[in-house]
Amino acid sequence: MDVKGLIFDLDGVIVNTEKNHYDSWKKIAETLGVDYDLDFNENLKGVSRSKSLELILKKGNMTIEESKFEEYLALKNSFYMKSIEGLSANDILPGVVSTIQKAKKLGLFCIIGSSSKNARLILDKVGLLDAFDFIVDGNDLKSPKPHPEVFLKGAELAKLNPKECIVFEDAASGVEAAKKGGFMVIAVGNHHIKDLADAYLETLETFQFA
Ligand code: BG6
Ligand code: MG
Repeated sequence: MDVKGLIFDLDGVIVNTEKNHYDSWKKIAETLGVDYDLDFNENLKGVSRSKSLELILKKGNMTIEESKFEEYLALKNSFYMKSIEGLSANDILPGVVSTIQKAKKLGLFCIIGSSSKNARLILDKVGLLDAFDFIVDGNDLKSPKPHPEVFLKGAELAKLNPKECIVFEDAASGVEAAKKGGFMVIAVGNHHIKDLADAYLETLETFQFA
């Protein structure tokens, strides 16, 4: 395969922010009286903010009014914002910077494909906002992961075919999205999704350019 572009998920692939999402959703779930643990959190990885809240409510067999729903989304984001105040380049995951540098030397496009509406803010905080040729995030999407829109848009911006790209993901929803879009997908740093992807890396440090 002639690879011309690398498409990276953000949370859990580029930056260590999955823990911050987890802690923030756990607080929301506790407020709602819904049990929340790391196994259940796997279902929320990669999906949009509103889909995440829907999943928590479904787990608790609950329904809430639209206005309350919006309040909880805002509350979750305020917990999350508070938790990332100190985010810095130290939170970039191992192998990310060297992989981007190598990709650039080889003339490959580097693209972000994230469900997060905070993607640009996070990239700015860790000093990687200018490291990517294109960024597709939660603000640009009609259909979030597991729909392939995020990755298809990323490839399209670089004028690439999905077959010319590799997607890096840490979430089941993201691997599904990539596969549906016809991309090769490498799972990173999450053993739960090891068998869903085309290949698995503990960290990007061991990624080998063919
Ligand atoms: C994804 C994360 O990247 O973005 C999810 O994996 C998160 O955990 C989702 O819920 C939406 O993020 P945000 O920042 O828009 O609430
Ligand atoms: Mg992720």
